[in-house]
Amino acid sequence: MHTLVADTSEQLSQLGADLVARTLAERPAAALLVATGNTPMGMYQELARRRADGLLDASQARVFQLDEYVGVPEDDVRSLYGWTRRSFVDPLGIPLEQVTRLMADGGDLQASCQAYDERVAAAGGIDLAILGLGPNGHLGFNEPPCAADAPTRLIDLTPESVVSNAVYWGGEDQVPRQALTAGMNVIMQARHIVLVVSGAHKQDILARTMHGPVTPDIPSSFLQLAPNVTIVVDRSTITSTSQPSVSHAT
Ligand code: PGA
Repeated sequence: MHTLVADTSEQLSQLGADLVARTLAERPAAALLVATGNTPMGMYQELARRRADGLLDASQARVFQLDEYVGVPEDDVRSLYGWTRRSFVDPLGIPLEQVTRLMADGGDLQASCQAYDERVAAAGGIDLAILGLGPNGHLGFNEPPCAADAPTRLIDLTPESVVSNAVYWGGEDQVPRQALTAGMNVIMQARHIVLVVSGAHKQDILARTMHGPVTPDIPSSFLQLAPNVTIVVDRSTITSTSQPSVSHAT
């Protein structure tokens, strides 16, 4: 694991954006697995700024939605597809036909997961997975306990995830209890994984992710086994207990 430590939230956004920009420069039609959540939003805004300044062309990128609540229509504010569009797809000018959704609003959810995995395979796998870190170590909605090769599937949110997602939607009663998530296998097979982590409240789970036992109880600990992981983190999240081997950003 390679770790980049940012001194400010602006620098965190820039470092994350640099990694996406590098991928797109090397492979304009790169397959990107794109997280929602608060942590990567500054990085997405930085990417949009670069596009507006003519410094970034993401028009050929292929976007794969990371997760989706079950039974939430596209125009519901809680739709993670809607959030992915508003924060990433539309500001970067990526045509919608290049976006692979996790269809979770009715229909056969198992067939939906299978269709998603077929699109990932047809794309040749994910080039860059952009991920946040859940307080329980989930990646996407790969809730613990989770096998390293868990497929794209329907999951029940853990009580901890219901609580942590309540802040987005104004109360625990607003949080859907089920979701579809890109499989842990999709994430683990990505050619590059960028985990963006911010905030003192993530100290403990980051330390477990990086240095704790590799265990299904902390799905993010499987990243210790992935071949190419970059953790972009702000200084407040790195503790003495994290004992990271860091490259300080300049
Ligand atoms: P956050 O969410 O970026 O809003 O902290 C991360 C997650 O729960 O996956």
